[in-house]
Amino acid sequence: MGILPKLILASICAAFLAVFCTTPSFHAETLRGVRVLVTGASKGIGEQLAYHYARFGAQIVITARRGEVLRQVADNCLSMGAQRVFYLAADMSNESDPEKVVDFAVEKLGGLDHVVLNHIGASRFAMWDGDVEHTRLLMKVNFFSYVQMAWRALPSLEQNKGSLIVVSSLAGKLSNPFVAPYASTKFALTGFFGALQHELAIKKSNVSISICTLGLIDTESAMKKVRDVVNLPAYPAADAALNIIITGTTRQTDLFYPWYTSVMILCKDLFPSISDYFIQNAYNTIP
Ligand SMILES: NC(=O)c1ccc[n+]([C@@H]2O[C@H](COP(=O)([O-])OP(=O)(O)OC[C@H]3O[C@@H](n4cnc5c(N)ncnc54)[C@H](OP(=O)(O)O)[C@@H]3O)[C@@H](O)[C@H]2O)c1
Repeated sequence: MGILPKLILASICAAFLAVFCTTPSFHAETLRGVRVLVTGASKGIGEQLAYHYARFGAQIVITARRGEVLRQVADNCLSMGAQRVFYLAADMSNESDPEKVVDFAVEKLGGLDHVVLNHIGASRFAMWDGDVEHTRLLMKVNFFSYVQMAWRALPSLEQNKGSLIVVSSLAGKLSNPFVAPYASTKFALTGFFGALQHELAIKKSNVSISICTLGLIDTESAMKKVRDVVNLPAYPAADAALNIIITGTTRQTDLFYPWYTSVMILCKDLFPSISDYFIQNAYNTIP
């Protein structure tokens, strides 16, 4: 074996050891009665997050734009074992809705232990066509509303030694084609919440922030865009959701799910031109 493959292998092994040897253990019973707010919970990963929290016996507030669908998800949560469930229809592109949702959750549950920021606005999988207005709107939904909600929720999380969980993407760590507006919102998230993690640690805050970097997950909206275009395995939304909850509950700063996300980030740093070659040649067709 040449020196280069050995180096790659050694780096990957070191990364795995670093992750697995330092993972704190998760105790599901600690989630009984925990007060949680989950955004983007009407479908996809958010819906699965709500169901896991329900099975753990949590008290839950869910939000998204479609109230009728939320009502159905809330009913499912109750039948799965949630102690209490409330829902509020809200549009995160609206100036005041992000704060309204946090206030609603604090009032209904009497405080917050976990806040999971997960929603995203719709975006295309295509070459950027110069639509600045769409990029601005997406920034509002995928980034500014997260900042607003985090700021509003921090006092309650601080009181309760709470966890703030931010669902992000590999697209927020590694630039990929055809998702420029979406990627910009996810890079903004990792930059902002990465800085906030340090600030809270310096202040010795009670609040932990977990940034979850996800690869391709088999939600309907993601698969509609990339099926037949990208040769990447899609991982199950329910498993992604469980890993997100474990990361937040154990107060870890980062989740990389599935395993290949951390390898891809490492390869980009170590071998940028090889990584660029693979990224630019990973598509069956140009969307
Ligand atoms: N799926 C993947 O492959 C993948 C990969 C990496 C990262 N992620 C991340 O995982 C998270 C969830 O992704 P997903 O695939 O589960 O998404 P999804 O299935 O498209 O669900 C998005 C959720 O956001 C809500 N939403 C959309 N626009 C909204 C708005 N303006 N205001 C409030 N809520 C709004 C939607 O409900 P309504 O339509 O009812 O509002 C829905 O509940 C995102 O942060 C995403 O970036 C996903």
